Amino acid sequence: MLQCRTLSLSLSYDDKMQKLTLIRPDDWHLHLRDGEALQAVLPHTVRQFARAIVMPNLKPPVRDLADAAAYRDRILAAIPAGKQFKPLMTLYLTDQTSPEDVLAAQASGFVQAVKYYPAGATTNAEFGVTDIRNCDPVFEVMQRLEMPLLLHGEVTDKAVDIFDREKVFIEQQLMPLRQRFPQLKVVMEHITTADAVEFVLVHDHIAATITPQHLLYNRNSLFNRGIRPHFYCLPILKRERHRQALLQAATSGNPKFFLGTDSAPHSRDRKENACGCAGCFSALHAIELYAEVFENANALDKLEAFASFYGPDFYQLPRNTEQITLIKTSWRIPDEVPFVDSQLVPLGAGSELMWQMA
Ligand code: DOR
Ligand code: ZN
Repeated sequence: MLQCRTLSLSLSYDDKMQKLTLIRPDDWHLHLRDGEALQAVLPHTVRQFARAIVMPNLKPPVRDLADAAAYRDRILAAIPAGKQFKPLMTLYLTDQTSPEDVLAAQASGFVQAVKYYPAGATTNAEFGVTDIRNCDPVFEVMQRLEMPLLLHGEVTDKAVDIFDREKVFIEQQLMPLRQRFPQLKVVMEHITTADAVEFVLVHDHIAATITPQHLLYNRNSLFNRGIRPHFYCLPILKRERHRQALLQAATSGNPKFFLGTDSAPHSRDRKENACGCAGCFSALHAIELYAEVFENANALDKLEAFASFYGPDFYQLPRNTEQITLIKTSWRIPDEVPFVDSQLVPLGAGSELMWQMA
């Protein structure tokens, strides 16, 4: 085994660069759903990741500590026998969320963050916040507790072009929020634009997660010899120059950018629909997709820190200690995997990947 000198502490290749060993990663943005859907998708995440920040956009949403505790119990019960996995819970912010809700959640030790959805922005966001200033008393407490606020950073104004909604959110909501709460810890979730990268780079206490789809694809993938619903997620894929900015950020070794898949399972029939749901399913093969991205960018040496170090560092949680191994071998992403009484179509279904988890 050859420890590459330029690499971070534990990442290692074998001498033919056919095997990659890294600290087990975490997923800092994940949709696990509930019930049978949870049972179907959780094993995929558990195979690769030690922990995940679990999104609270259930129906009805996870609004307080009692909801989070009950949901956590259902997730723990769905972990396959003999496997280890730690769900990190979040609260869904509404106009009614109180500072006491946040204090109680934080005291539990298992709620790590609060998720902000602008009302109506995405799947199950109808209970979201109607005006971000309604939540200032909650942000006051979160700032004091150093509890991260996770942003779905898009405006919902239908008059704003869908490709501009992240940029306009930054200008209209995030900049003023930052002025009101300069110390508030913020994660801009699933960033999609050069504008978001720039904002994260210049502000303290602000980090961002980046998904595999926004690193691998630009908006042309949505319209490739026909409409391609499995590439539709929110925020929507953007122009190539934005993908390039995200790629640069993810592979730069800057600890403000870390892994968050936003794997968001919707059954095939709900995606291939006249009004298809938003969300890409990547839990099946997430770490392998990221390995592909980093290999193609000639930055495999930066993968481990992005996937396994910078997330826990931002959340002030310990880094994992056990390792996973990826093998250099060509394999084809399956066309579908079983899901309740339907199927899920994985991100990039049918295409080849060059790294596979051992
Ligand atoms: O594409 C998305 N799907 N974006 C979101 O913000 C929500 C997610 C979901 O829950 O399906
Ligand atoms: Zn999400």
